Amino acid sequence: MSNPSPTKKLHNKVAIITGGASGIGEETAHRFAENGARAVVIADIQEEKGQKVALSITTSNCCCTFIKCDVSDEEEVKSLVKSTVEKHGRIDIMFSNAGIMSKRRQDILNFNLVDYENVFSINVRGMAACVKHAGHAMVEGGVKGSIICTSSVMANYGAKISIDYVMSKHAVLGLVRCASKGLGRFGIRVNCVAPGPVATPMTCGVFQKSEEEVERSFEADFALKKSGYLKAKDVADAVMFLACADSVFVTGHSLAVDAGYVPIGPRS
Ligand SMILES: NC(=O)c1ccc[n+]([C@@H]2O[C@H](COP(=O)([O-])OP(=O)(O)OC[C@H]3O[C@@H](n4cnc5c(N)ncnc54)[C@H](O)[C@@H]3O)[C@@H](O)[C@H]2O)c1
Repeated sequence: MSNPSPTKKLHNKVAIITGGASGIGEETAHRFAENGARAVVIADIQEEKGQKVALSITTSNCCCTFIKCDVSDEEEVKSLVKSTVEKHGRIDIMFSNAGIMSKRRQDILNFNLVDYENVFSINVRGMAACVKHAGHAMVEGGVKGSIICTSSVMANYGAKISIDYVMSKHAVLGLVRCASKGLGRFGIRVNCVAPGPVATPMTCGVFQKSEEEVERSFEADFALKKSGYLKAKDVADAVMFLACADSVFVTGHSLAVDAGYVPIGPRS
């Protein structure tokens, strides 16, 4: 290793990022490495993309690896955490970020419970498994770590469509609030980041629109008018704040990165 800077905010830290092969997770993996993390483990179901991202991040100061992991399978999450501790000695940061929206934009009268279960198995069950197993590793290793989940600005609102997704993000907020109480006595912090709409493969895929079209379609809902749009990198900056010692007494909190988003369009 060539002279890693001890002044960097994540100096010597070991992080896991689920859903790190794409979008917000990918941006955050870059941010963690830039800020001095010595190891970043990308956990995702997209093997080729995940390997590519890991390769692009690895430097002489940061070992970035990919592990194939479906977060809806608790055994896979357990093994992800175990192998990270075996390889790197500890886990300081768990960014539990993997999530999906169902292609069918569900409303209440046509609510498809199979789709709902699929969304919840990843967005809620998967997040709970990540918090549980990272929490265990931190407690057992005596690490006063930081766990961050990705919720959504939609955890604060009802909606007419995509209601399985909206419900799942309400549950993530509940998970974070409860886990912060249970892990606080070990010095472990648990928070969530709540992004507003960002053009990523998830949103472009579900809305069947280009990045530019997704961004324009939400423009009216943003209170904060800027020359650019909210991007995954802006969410990564907020995750970085929650991961490092700048937020040392922040726990059980939801940090919105949403440009003052208030849903006023046809979805609401
Ligand atoms: N993009 C937005 O507008 C927005 C807004 C609020 C919250 N979010 C949340 O941000 C998180 C990241 O989404 P994104 O927008 O970056 O989308 P994305 O599709 O770019 O990234 C999501 C990643 O999660 C991975 N993933 C999906 N299912 C998985 C599973 N079972 N196990 C492991 N990995 C899995 C995908 O392969 C993908 O790489 C999600 O939790 C999403 O709900 C996104």
